[in-house]
Parts: sequence; structure tokens; C-alpha cells
Amino acid sequence: MIKYGFVKLAYPKPETHDSLSALLRAADVFFSKPQQFKDQYTFGDYGNDKGGYTSIGVESVNPNSGKKDSVQNYVFRDDSVVDHHNPELAKPAVAYFREMARLTRCLNSLSSLALDLPLQKFNEVTFPSPPSDKNGLALRIAKYEPVEGIRYGEHTDYQMFTILYTGGEEGLQVQLPSGEFEDVTFEDGFVVNAGDFWAGITNGRWRSVTHRVKGGGARIAVPFFTGPRGSWRVTVGGEELTAGEWLARRLAKSNK
Ligand SMILES: [Fe+2]
Repeated sequence: MIKYGFVKLAYPKPETHDSLSALLRAADVFFSKPQQFKDQYTFGDYGNDKGGYTSIGVESVNPNSGKKDSVQNYVFRDDSVVDHHNPELAKPAVAYFREMARLTRCLNSLSSLALDLPLQKFNEVTFPSPPSDKNGLALRIAKYEPVEGIRYGEHTDYQMFTILYTGGEEGLQVQLPSGEFEDVTFEDGFVVNAGDFWAGITNGRWRSVTHRVKGGGARIAVPFFTGPRGSWRVTVGGEELTAGEWLARRLAKSNK
């Protein structure tokens, strides 16, 4: 985290792998449906509390590029309130969400140890108490169209960790301390990168690594984002606000 801002995690548990395979199959079916069918699961702008579907031509993760990203996606923000979602997608999505929430607890505990803080410190930041608060987790299921050049522009992630299963596929590139972008290659496992939260609370000691996705054929990627729960208070540029408000601002910038 200090030198590169990301780590690789070895091959997941069999149950994680099974739930991911089921999710990828269901996602393939969903994204192949007619546009009108998919649009019924749009519940607001990308980043809204209910999650749901965002069509191609909306997102631009690097607004300075002047280009829209050739991606459509479906987001789950919660693993318990899913009645409004597409049922065929929700079932495997919830299973994978729960696997990732368990992994998040492990990563948060490891981070507490690494920073010499009480073991549950960052789990208190992420997971709500009382449960009516919003957790800081989101599962994004993204279908990329074939594209040449850069598929998804360079950016840092806004929150704590992004957990991405690569399955040996190339695409993700991270910026090294030298400024060069390098392919992240990994036979079968997760890439976990640190977001802006960690750079903020460690005064930059942990890097919020700039990364991008290079072009290639059509593919489905399922990054899982972890962050502070909605009511957690943060200070950004001298302004105090909740983590939920800050995330909404960052997401709004990439959906103009
Ligand atoms: Fe990212």
C-alpha cells in the first residue's frame, strides 16, 4: 500500500469462486436483454442509494477526457434491500456481495493492525451501527463494449478499497511511482487497490493509486467498493461533511 497502492490476493475460496461464476452468467443474460427491459431497473443517477442500472453513454470517470465511457453497469448498494432489483441478477449478486463483505472485514482488520489501531477500528467506519445507517459497500457489475485505446480513463477511487477479481484477464493498468502505467497481471485472484480515504487518513503514506483500464474485447468486470458508512464524518479540504455526501459529490462529477 505504501509503495504501489495495491496488493494482489491469491485465489479465492471455492464458494467465492462459485458465487462469482453464477453472477457472471446472470450478468451476461441481463446485459443481453433489450434496452427497454434494462431501463426499468434505472432508479436514478449513477450512485443513487437504490443502485440499479446505468446505460451506455452516461458515465465519464475521467471528465477531463471529454469522452463518455463505453460501459453499462448494474449496482447493488445493499445485500438485504433487493426487492426492486432484477430477481435473476439479485440472487447471485447478493451471494457475492456477502462474500465480499466478509473479505472487507478481514481487510479492514489487517489495515487496523498495519496502522497500529484497535482491531475493529475500520470495521466501525464501514459497517453501520445502528443498521439503519447506510453501509459503505457497493457491488458494480460492468459490461464493457469492445474498444481500442483506453476503455476507462485514469482516476483514483473515491473511498477505501476496491476489490476486483481479475481471473487472469488483462486490462487494469496502475501508475507506478515513476509515473509509468503498467499492466496488472495475475493468474487467478483479486487485485485490491487503496482509494482516497486511505491516502487521507495516512497523510499520503498509503497511495490512492491512479489507474485505468485499457481497451480490448467485450468483458464483464465486477469491482466491489468499500468505504465509510454513510453517516461517518470526514473532513475534506477543511470542510466537514458526511462520507455519504462526499461520495455523492464525487460520483456526480463523473456523470455529467
Ligand atoms: Fe477505479
